[in-house]
Order: sequence, then structure tokens, then C-alpha cells
Amino acid sequence: MKIGVISSSEGYSNEELKDLKAAISKSSAGYVSINLSESFVRIESSTTTVMHTDGGKAERISADAAVMRSIGIIRDYEQFSHRLWLAQAMELNGMRISNKISSWLSASDKLGTLIILSRHRIPVPDTTSSENFFHGYAAVRKYTDTVIKPLRSGKGIGVFRINDPDAAMHIFSYFTNLSKPIYVQRFLEKKGSGDFRVVVVGGKVIGAEFRKAKGWKSNVAQGAEPRKARINAEISELAIKATEALKLDYAGIDIADTKDGYYVLEANPTISWSGFRKVTGVNPASHIIKNLISETRK
Ligand SMILES: Nc1ncnc2c1ncn2[C@@H]1O[C@H](COP(=O)(O)OP(=O)(O)O)[C@@H](O)[C@H]1O
Ligand SMILES: [Mg+2]
Repeated sequence: MKIGVISSSEGYSNEELKDLKAAISKSSAGYVSINLSESFVRIESSTTTVMHTDGGKAERISADAAVMRSIGIIRDYEQFSHRLWLAQAMELNGMRISNKISSWLSASDKLGTLIILSRHRIPVPDTTSSENFFHGYAAVRKYTDTVIKPLRSGKGIGVFRINDPDAAMHIFSYFTNLSKPIYVQRFLEKKGSGDFRVVVVGGKVIGAEFRKAKGWKSNVAQGAEPRKARINAEISELAIKATEALKLDYAGIDIADTKDGYYVLEANPTISWSGFRKVTGVNPASHIIKNLISETRK
């Protein structure tokens, strides 16, 4: 069996790739690097072939399965669409990709994630998303303390907090000028000033950490301190339910504990796990690859 890791040449975290490569070779499968920004597709004689150039020679990308890591840094809608369809084409040709491209797509968008989770009656923070800054303004007035997020972000980058609707209005008018949607979320006071990151693979919790924040953002990349967490059945069921609602093979589910109960803040279909691995001693890569192999053999 050959297993690929789908990424792009930019913005790739190496530690996770190293772990995935090691897990693939431990499973005795062959490793294939699938770089979306350098791949191309041919549709000829009713056959769609996704290719890459290896040592100057164009050849078909051949793998039975793949881990979807990253689509790269996107600067143009057509670039996004192109990379996505290369991955979809490989999936349509029979490659078992984990996470499935459509699920990965929903979960890598914060708005898509919340729409799906709330439809499954999973508690998520009140959120307004609009291209119109008046709606953003009204949302800040209504929620009073808010968190503004890019739809597709990670590591807490570009996520900021604001409680003054008039100051927010100026920022939102720039967003509108840049054709950027405005995503406004009610700020939740988190117990223990941090949140849980629960990692689910193949419908089971493989481990959990509590990320104690320095300020209010509990990303390890923002200086939060990861600690191994023992989670209760409610948190564990919530994480599994969220993963299943999004049809993900694996996910990192961020859960906040508040005076009103638990809320799912985010579901991550691609996770950075250096902190998680260190404190829990659990290597997500080996679980992801094991699960992918069993899914491919089905
Ligand atoms: N509604 C919220 N209320 C309070 N804190 C939040 C809220 N949303 C996010 N945060 C904090 O900000 C961090 C980053 O937000 P998140 O939605 O997870 O985006 P990212 O994809 O950048 O990690 C979270 O880990 C959490 O600690
Ligand atoms: Mg997050």
C-alpha cells in the first residue's frame, strides 16, 4: 500500500509531517509526497489523471490513500478551487483520503463548521457572519463582548476581541472594502482561562489536553501552556458527536467550559500536535495512519 500526505509547498508544519512519515513507514506502507501547488491534472479520453513532476518527468500520482494536511496559502479563489479539485479528482479516482475532501472543506471553514454543528444541536457560541458592516456593528452591540475571526484561520492568528461597536465599525468597513466577510462571535468566559482540545480518531478519543492561556486565546502557538487533561464523559461525547456531525475521520475539537455549560469553539480537520504529543504522550500520526489503513481496506 502507498500512502500520500497532501500539502502544498508553503505554510507546512514539519513536525507533523515527520510524525506522519514515520507512522507510514512503521506501517510498512510506502510514502508519497503530494504537493498540490506543484501538481497538475489532465482530462483526456474520459480519464482524469492527477500528475506531478518527479525529477523532470511528469508522472501520475499513485497512492492508495492519503492524509489531507493543507491546501496551502491561498491568494485567489481560482487557485483555491484548482487545488481543491486536484484533491477531489484523486478521491474520485479511488484514493481514500483522510479527512474526506468534502468534510475537510466544511470543517476548515469556521462558518461551515458552526452551521453543521448547530444543526446537530451541538452548543456553539452565538455568531453573526455577514459581508455588511452594519450587521457586524449590530452583532457587537448585541453580544457586547465579541471575538472576530477570519473564516479560515489557525493558531489564533487574526483572531481579535472587541467590545466597542463603534471602533469595530471602522475595522469592519475595511473588511467590507476588502470584500472580506465579517465573522462576529459572542465572547465566552472560559472556566480555568483555557479550553480543552480533544483529539478524536476513528470515532474514539485518543487523548485530551487543557490549554491554559496567558490571555484569553488558548492556542499553544499564542503561548498557552498545554496540560494533559482527564475529561469527563460529557466532554468526550461532545467531541465525538462533533467529529461525527462533520463526518471527519479525525479531528481536534476545541471545547470551552463556561457557567452555561460546554461549547464547541472549533473543529479542526488538520491539527498541530506538538504540545498535545508532549503532554499526553499520544502520537496522533500513528492513530491517523492506522485508521486510514483500516478505512482503505474496507
Ligand atoms: N467565542 C469565544 N470566546 C472566548 N474565547 C474564544 C472564542 N473563540 C475563540 N476563543 C479563543 O481564541 C482562540 C482562537 O480561536 P479559534 O476559533 O480556535 O481560532 P484558530 O483557528 O485561530 O485557533 C481559541 O483557542 C479560544 O481560546
Ligand atoms: Mg483553535
